Order: sequence, then C-alpha cells, then structure tokens
Amino acid sequence: MKIVIAGGTGQVGALLERAFTAQGHRVVILTRNPRRAGQVAWDGATLGPWVEEIVGSDLAVNLAGRSVSCRYTEANLKDMMDSRVDSARVVGQAIAAAVRPPRLWLQMSTATIYAHRHDAANDEASGVIGGHEPDVPDYWAYSVKIAENWERAQREAATPDTRKVALRAAMVMSPDRGGVFDVLSRMARFGLGGPVAGGGQYVSWIHDQDFVRAVEFLVAHEELTGPVNLAAPEPLPQRAFIRALRTSWRQPLGLPATRWMAELGAFALRSDTELLLKSRRVTPGRLVDAGFTFRYATWPGAADDLVRRARRHG
Ligand SMILES: NC(=O)c1ccc[n+]([C@@H]2O[C@H](COP(=O)([O-])OP(=O)(O)OC[C@H]3O[C@@H](n4cnc5c(N)ncnc54)[C@H](OP(=O)(O)O)[C@@H]3O)[C@@H](O)[C@H]2O)c1
Repeated sequence: MKIVIAGGTGQVGALLERAFTAQGHRVVILTRNPRRAGQVAWDGATLGPWVEEIVGSDLAVNLAGRSVSCRYTEANLKDMMDSRVDSARVVGQAIAAAVRPPRLWLQMSTATIYAHRHDAANDEASGVIGGHEPDVPDYWAYSVKIAENWERAQREAATPDTRKVALRAAMVMSPDRGGVFDVLSRMARFGLGGPVAGGGQYVSWIHDQDFVRAVEFLVAHEELTGPVNLAAPEPLPQRAFIRALRTSWRQPLGLPATRWMAELGAFALRSDTELLLKSRRVTPGRLVDAGFTFRYATWPGAADDLVRRARRHG
C-alpha cells in the first residue's frame, strides 16, 4: 500500500511509520518541515503540491495538531483547535478532489471527547460526550469542542468513495523518549508517582503495539466507519495506575500530590492540569464487538513490558 501520514513526525506517526514500513508499505509523511526522503511539505491548512501524494494512495492518516501538553492560554487553545480542524478539512478537500482517492481515511480524534466521569465507562454506543459536566472547570469544555469540531470536519467532507474512521485514542503508551509514558515514568522513578488529587480519576491508555494492531484491524475491517475508541478495555483509577507503574520500576515511594501541587507541577512542566485531573473512563466497545483482541488488556502487564523495553533503550 501507499500510505500518507499527515502530521506523522510526532510520537504516534513514528509508531505507525515504523510498523507500516516494516510490513513493506510505502509511507509518505506530510510535515511543515521536511527533513528527509519520504517527507513532503504542507502547511496543514491549504491545498498545495502535496495533494499529488494523496492521489492514488491507499490510505490517508491525519495526525496533525498542536501538542495539547501546553498552558491553555487563549492563543494556545486557538492553535490547538485550528491546527486540528484546518488540517482535517484540507485533507478532506484533497481526498474529495482526487481522481483516485484512498479507500480509507483515518482521522485522529481523542478519548477526551467523552465526559469526565467515574460511575461508568464510555463506549461509542452509550458513552456521554463531555462539555456539560457540572463539577469541572468551564475551560475543560474547550477540549471536547476541539474533538467535536475535528470529527465534524471529517464527517462533513464530501468523500463518497473513501471510508472514514475517527480514532478516539486514549494515551498511547510507548517507551520512546518524550512520550507520555516517558514523562510518567520519570515522575514515578523520582518518587513522585503518587495519587494526584486523591487519584480517583480514571486513566485510559493503550499499549503501543495494540494501538498499531488496532489501526491494522481498522484497515482490514471495511464494515467499520465513524468513531472508534482506541483504548485498552481496563481503564483504572489514577492511584492504581501510577502504583502499578511504580511497581514495574521497583520504586516503592510515591508521594501524593494535592490539587494545588498538581497546579504547580503542571505550571513547571508548561502543561495543564486537565491532563492529570480529568477522569477518562473509556472502553473499546466497537473494536471488541468486531472481534479485536488486546495483547495488553490490563495495565500492570503493559507497564512491565513498557518498562522492560524502556530499560533496553537505556
Ligand atoms: N500521543 C497520544 O497519546 C495521543 C492520544 C490521543 C490523541 N492524540 C492526538 O494524535 C495526534 C498525534 O499525536 P502525537 O503524540 O504524535 O502528537 P505530536 O507528537 O505532537 O505530533 C503531532 C504533529 O502535528 C504537527 N503539527 C503540530 N502543530 C501543527 C500545526 N499548527 N499545523 C499543522 N501541523 C502541526 C507536527 O508535525 P510537523 O511539525 O512536522 O508539521 C507534529 O509532529 C495529535 O493530534 C494528538 O492530539 C495523541
């Protein structure tokens, strides 16, 4: 297959590029700063010569978007929104205009689209979309709005010959440097892996190999269209999640952090507390119904494997 990955220079793109290339597919990455063969320039917002890459490709994947790990200033929030919606819109325009469009368009979305809740899990059928929770800061609704607009841009694209799937992905855990697992591991190893603000908030996650396998599954299963949750079947409260990670790193100490300490930490890391405090309880209803099986369904086993691989990387 010829596979075009827009915004494929980040953590998730690297995983997919590695896997697809290993299987003998040809991968082209669309990036604002091409640095090597196989990378083609685009601006993530307007049509250009890059459209030629979409024509005759088999699969288009769009991952582009400003990182969400930042201070949620007005300017950053606007950038987070625009980079996602504009890139999805322009990928749709390119597919719509292609004489031979790809058969499938995988558009990144996020598990953050669901409501902050503890009582039950959100699958695609019965899940509650966020934005109206009474007990959370108002600005959390903005992340949900981003996800909704992101998915709408794909849904409304006039691409009748292309199957469309929106990937509602949970945190993708891979041992690569700079990814979310790396950041959490550093905290756990330095004794800072304790409950945050009580630790009752759920963490949804997916092991990198299952993420790649789920994407391959979606490519193969032509009956699947629309939003699909990519999350392991067993999300767990943050206090259990971080305790298991500490155990895998053999770090007995895990200092608890209060809400204001989390504020301080997020400020120091130039990030936002929503990433730590929102309860994300998301399960993979459609994948499981369609017959997908997870290699890493529970977090302790996944954490052991990721730590083993991270140690190997040094
Ligand atoms: N990692 C996760 O666990 C996870 C989970 C759920 C959803 N997601 C979503 O999946 C996508 C990929 O995740 P990731 O972790 O690989 O993200 P990432 O490392 O931040 O990479 C995203 C890519 O988007 C491009 N980009 C950034 N700002 C842009 C802008 N203003 N306009 C156009 N392109 C821009 C960048 O490519 P260039 O600089 O090369 O152009 C960057 O490599 C993101 O949208 C993220 O929100 C990630």
